[in-house]
Amino acid sequence: MFEAVMQSKAKEDLACIIDELQKYRLSHFSTEEDYMQKAGYTEREANRQEHTIFTARVDEFIKRYREGDDGLVAEIMVHPTTWIHEHLCGTDQNYVACLQEHGIP
Ligand SMILES: [Fe+2]
Repeated sequence: MFEAVMQSKAKEDLACIIDELQKYRLSHFSTEEDYMQKAGYTEREANRQEHTIFTARVDEFIKRYREGDDGLVAEIMVHPTTWIHEHLCGTDQNYVACLQEHGIP
């Protein structure tokens, strides 16, 4: 019984994480891509491609979640965190000056 409850809780937490990843990609990526477009940021396609790769990965997580993939829990705790950190602290930092020059927040 305890194990069943814990498995149910883990699945519930996993659904919550996937939902947050969905929200993140929908809100953050579209806003950022819009800003890069308005600023005429020349490297926006490379940034957008990283978004596309992340989006595909989230889609894969959703598919595996629906299939009941047991390996998903460990993977989802590492991959999105690493990707978000590297993208925000790396790729996204490259457009900050360009957006500021164009008065875009
Ligand atoms: Fe980005």
